Amino acid sequence: MATTVYYCASSLDGYIAEDDDSLDWLLNYQGTFEPETADPSPMDEGGAYEGFYESVRALVAGSATYEWILDHLDVAGGGEWPYRGKPCWVLRSRDLRLPEGEGVDVRIADAPVGELYSEMAAAAGDGVLWVVGGGGVASQFADEGRLDEVQVTVVPVVLGAGKKLFERRLPSGSMQLTGTRTFKNGMVELRYEI
Ligand SMILES: NC(=O)c1ccc[n+]([C@@H]2O[C@H](COP(=O)([O-])OP(=O)(O)OC[C@H]3O[C@@H](n4cnc5c(N)ncnc54)[C@H](OP(=O)(O)O)[C@@H]3O)[C@@H](O)[C@H]2O)c1
Repeated sequence: MATTVYYCASSLDGYIAEDDDSLDWLLNYQGTFEPETADPSPMDEGGAYEGFYESVRALVAGSATYEWILDHLDVAGGGEWPYRGKPCWVLRSRDLRLPEGEGVDVRIADAPVGELYSEMAAAAGDGVLWVVGGGGVASQFADEGRLDEVQVTVVPVVLGAGKKLFERRLPSGSMQLTGTRTFKNGMVELRYEI
């Protein structure tokens, strides 16, 4: 059975992007935390991301997140689509560009999460269905009772405004902390089961 995981990075005050979709606060973040027990940065080799990504069998993202990826990696100009070999559902109600190339499997959809879930879960098999974001998409999964885990890497930056980690209150209310990881750059990963 698939596990649906919302895996993302958030500012200390609960934003995943600035209002203009900038992620400079995350991509340019440099901090330090030196104890021996600290792990390499989440994006470094051997960091948390690679381990998580190996478990991912299917992905789902909102259109703003999808377009940020296309633009940031310059996919139209020859940059590589980062999720080759894994089906990625993109939720949208308007026309979107589609990347090309071997192994690219982007499935554009305009429907409630509840209607798409079985198809996405079947594609993920017994692996992870990664809810890439944003907060509105994560809230739709939570509303449907289809969000199993939240893995958020907290970046010690306060933005004051931006795109929220979740758009709405979680209907189930309670979460169980299942693990934490502290990185050498001062970020902290929190893992919760819903
Ligand atoms: N820090 C992180 O780890 C992290 C993770 C993910 C994303 N991000 C960033 O956070 C920002 C996210 O922005 P966001 O929260 O505004 O947007 P988003 O969730 O990426 O996209 C929202 C849009 O998706 C479409 N959509 C969502 N659900 C739908 C459904 N069920 N059916 C049809 N269309 C649906 C709608 O677009 P239309 O109707 O306009 O098509 C909606 O306006 C982006 O800048 C992204 O790069 C950061």
